[in-house]
Amino acid sequence: MDRSDAFIYVIIMSVVVVLLPPPCSADDRLVPGKPLTSDATVVSDGGAFAMGFFSPSNSTPAKLYLGIWYNDIPRRTVVWVADRETPVTNGTTLSLTESSNLVVSDADGRVRWTTNITGGAAGNGNTTAVLMNTGNLVVRSPNGTIFWQSFEQPTDSFLPGMKLRMMYRTRASDRLVSWRGPGDPSPGSFSYGGDTDTFLQVIMWNGTRPLMRDGPWTGYMVDSQYQTNTSAIVYVAIIDTDEEIYITFSVADDAPHTRFVLTYAGKYQLQRWSSGSSAWVVLQEWPAGCDPYDFCGPNGYCDSTAAEAPLPACRCLDGFEPASAAEWSSGRFSRGCRRKEAVRCGDGFLAVQGMQCPDKFVHVPNRTLEACAAECSSNCSCVAYAYANLSNSRSRGDTTRCLVWSGELIDMAKVGAQGLGSDTLYLRLAGLQLHAGGRTKSNAVKIVLPVLASSILVILCISFAWLKMKACKKRNREKHRKQILFGMSAAEEVGEGNPVQDLEFPFVTFEDIALATNNFSEAYKIGQGGFGKVYKGMLGGQEVAIKRLSRNSQQGTKEFRNEVILIAKLQHRNLVRILGFCVEGDEKLLIYEYLPNKSLDATLFNGSRKLLLDWTTRFNIIKGVARGLLYLHQDSRLTIIHRDLKAGNILLDAEMKPKIADFGMARIFGDNQQNANTQRVVGTYGYMAPEYAMEGIFSTKSDVYSFGVLLLEVITGMRRNSVSNIMGFPNLIVYAWNMWKEGKTEDLADSSIMDSCLQDEVLLCIHLALLCVQENPDDRPLMPFVVFILENGSSTALPTPSRPTYFAQRSDKMEMDQLRHNIENSMYTLTLTDVEGR
Ligand SMILES: *[C@@H]1O[C@H](CO)[C@@H](O)[C@H](O)[C@H]1NC(C)=O
Ligand SMILES: *[C@@H]1O[C@H](CO)[C@@H](O)[C@H](O)[C@H]1NC(C)=O
Ligand SMILES: *[C@@H]1O[C@H](CO)[C@@H](O)[C@H](O)[C@H]1NC(C)=O
Ligand SMILES: *[C@@H]1O[C@H](CO)[C@@H](O)[C@H](O)[C@H]1NC(C)=O
Ligand SMILES: *[C@@H]1O[C@H](CO)[C@@H](O)[C@H](O)[C@H]1NC(C)=O
Ligand SMILES: *[C@@H]1O[C@H](CO)[C@@H](O)[C@H](O)[C@H]1NC(C)=O
Ligand SMILES: *[C@@H]1O[C@H](CO)[C@@H](O)[C@H](O)[C@H]1NC(C)=O
Ligand SMILES: *[C@@H]1O[C@H](CO)[C@@H](O)[C@H](O)[C@H]1NC(C)=O
Ligand SMILES: *[C@@H]1O[C@H](CO)[C@@H](O)[C@H](O)[C@H]1NC(C)=O
Repeated sequence: MDRSDAFIYVIIMSVVVVLLPPPCSADDRLVPGKPLTSDATVVSDGGAFAMGFFSPSNSTPAKLYLGIWYNDIPRRTVVWVADRETPVTNGTTLSLTESSNLVVSDADGRVRWTTNITGGAAGNGNTTAVLMNTGNLVVRSPNGTIFWQSFEQPTDSFLPGMKLRMMYRTRASDRLVSWRGPGDPSPGSFSYGGDTDTFLQVIMWNGTRPLMRDGPWTGYMVDSQYQTNTSAIVYVAIIDTDEEIYITFSVADDAPHTRFVLTYAGKYQLQRWSSGSSAWVVLQEWPAGCDPYDFCGPNGYCDSTAAEAPLPACRCLDGFEPASAAEWSSGRFSRGCRRKEAVRCGDGFLAVQGMQCPDKFVHVPNRTLEACAAECSSNCSCVAYAYANLSNSRSRGDTTRCLVWSGELIDMAKVGAQGLGSDTLYLRLAGLQLHAGGRTKSNAVKIVLPVLASSILVILCISFAWLKMKACKKRNREKHRKQILFGMSAAEEVGEGNPVQDLEFPFVTFEDIALATNNFSEAYKIGQGGFGKVYKGMLGGQEVAIKRLSRNSQQGTKEFRNEVILIAKLQHRNLVRILGFCVEGDEKLLIYEYLPNKSLDATLFNGSRKLLLDWTTRFNIIKGVARGLLYLHQDSRLTIIHRDLKAGNILLDAEMKPKIADFGMARIFGDNQQNANTQRVVGTYGYMAPEYAMEGIFSTKSDVYSFGVLLLEVITGMRRNSVSNIMGFPNLIVYAWNMWKEGKTEDLADSSIMDSCLQDEVLLCIHLALLCVQENPDDRPLMPFVVFILENGSSTALPTPSRPTYFAQRSDKMEMDQLRHNIENSMYTLTLTDVEGR
């Protein structure tokens, strides 16, 4: 039983627990006139949460608090407390009043805690307070209007689906506030929430002192945190609307209980319930490493990319030195760094990349990058600026983010260029010149320039050389680091001295494979793709699929071996597993698990087999493929761009769960740049993003495009290029776009799933698909966002898709001509499968 099986087994176990009748026959709601007494509970429909009075400590008389806790785990874990400061010791009740307020009162009828709903609209006697299965207690009217919800008054726990908000208009924000102690729910000194001074960052405080800070928001929307050893994925999203900006998170539908909690000891933890050990497992904890606020002192930064990470390493910015060399070298960083040379008004800026920006910034509204630079260079007290364009995540209002600093730079970290909160910090430094073309040369520069022209020239040359040297050094360092990170397994495990047989990963001889496939006879062939032919065979008593790679792979034997081993380490339940490989002479073969239910292609487009795919199954396939792709793009140790995602490369297991096949092929074939321009276009016509098909530019966004096409196929049950004969449209994308534009989106769903389909989910998927197939790669969402939207349904406002590419004055024929041109002018092979369609 491998880990994912164990994981599924655990889920089944917990489902069994859920299916048992709840311990007491409690309802999931409260109505006026029927108060909840201290010995009763309300249990959510679904059984995940319970609400009632609890006593956290052994004090006498027992202090009773109204709380919400997990109902289906053996350890009482309270996630919300109402009367934190005013516990009741006897005869306490919770009632819902005629005015729709929740009231906790004591035996003498005194009100100890209440919600503060005002306004006559609420005052109709038919309101209910329902404990939802998410752990949210909702007071609502019969027509669904929500008057109050516990999710908007968080205690110390942040649950999936909850929002931590910052409201633009009122400048109010939600904050988690820790308990005071292990048995004391009263408010402790630690809190966590948005920074309403800036609306751009999240801070954890001890009292009023910051303990930890996320850098200012750079506009990303979803971050996914993947824990390989526990299969737990958490999607943290930042949603910006006109009224508010909030953080929320979600986990997979079938994930065990997961929460963020701010502990009484001042740690922010991501916890997941483990039914195996019957305990909460801390998946991640903050502050850690470079997190502590102001760790390296003023003008110092913590280098989380350093080789010694996760041990924090303090450094001074270029042009700075430790304020006290002795303290610095003995590991005391609080005094930070000082400038080696004072800056003057005319000094220019050094671009420092991959930084998490310092705190204490001023946000200058409505500036372009140029205007932001001018803003800083024209103000002599400005020492740095940073710029971001938030238009991907903020659709209206001011989408610019111009930050400027004066004085000391506090709480900086180097996070690397790939980090989500990664900014370029433009730092004013002595000896750097403002750009000659800069609009805002100060008077000082204008006067000094002609006089010192020659010496400045010399300085320029020197600093240019110095910068170049620095850049080189940095590049080398980064390269070195990459090798350490990614090359670990390859270098260690397939080093020169290590015979392949030592690997846990089996090497299979060519003879064995030839035997298993009857010398690659046609009778054993089950498929053929751009990368080679696929056979079915028996190896070691197991049915396997064997892929014989075509011979134009440019890789040498050793590189091939390393690549395969690296890629075989990628394991995810939505990826086909690689079981072994063989390399002998010209022959390169890969051995995969064999999946009996054929490909999505062979099921979706087959008149009778397609009936196996009702809407729920299709939606699960969509979600599975999205998760698998996300893993390839972001959550695995390598960034893998599939480059040939299509229905034919999605295999279905016995339970119709999807598994992506052929991933990592581009790497195996020796094209392992991450975002590059390649002359070998590999892929399938109709699934290929325009910029990839036309110009050979590929990135994760070209996979997103293919995913969008796949999504449309799954929903409509039509092939991407089959529509012309039926509907008079050149292809499926154009057809879908037209239907969407005309408001006839519902008609797109496959008629064979009409009965089972959920309109909302179908509409959501089509909307998402149209976002994925937009012409401009920058407009397409990233996979974490796609997965988040799929997991969370329609709760998030999606942007409006722009017209897909086929409208952009180019016809299919022109595109084909362009492709042919590319082929003829390419010195490399072009592997293009499936050009004709079927
Ligand atoms: C409840 O306790 C309070 C003091 O804690 C006391 O004044 C009151 O009489 C008690 N009421 C009952 C019904 O026991
Ligand atoms: C309700 O309002 C009172 C007085 O303004 C305040 O003390 C109390 O904390 C509020 N309760 C809640 C649950 O907001
Ligand atoms: C729902 O009922 C409330 C009063 O109970 C009313 O204020 C609100 O307008 C109603 N909303 C809708 C959509 O009918
Ligand atoms: C409450 O519900 C009852 C029955 O559902 C209905 O007769 C009554 O008019 C409702 N009251 C109000 C104020 O809407
Ligand atoms: C929080 O602040 C208090 C008082 O200022 C201090 O005693 C305590 O050590 C701080 N805790 C942390 C974790 O910083
Ligand atoms: C997962 O791995 C991390 C780091 O290797 C470790 O700290 C954590 O305890 C592991 N979690 C589990 C549940 O094994
Ligand atoms: C932003 O600046 C431009 C020109 O600098 C101006 O036309 C526009 O009205 C400004 N927008 C806002 C929201 O201030
Ligand atoms: C931000 O980016 C969008 C799209 O990339 C662009 O249209 C817009 O002009 C940019 N805004 C600024 C201020 O640069
Ligand atoms: C220059 O920057 C300082 C600090 O940010 C600010 O207080 C001051 O108003 C700015 N001066 C001008 C002319 O913008």
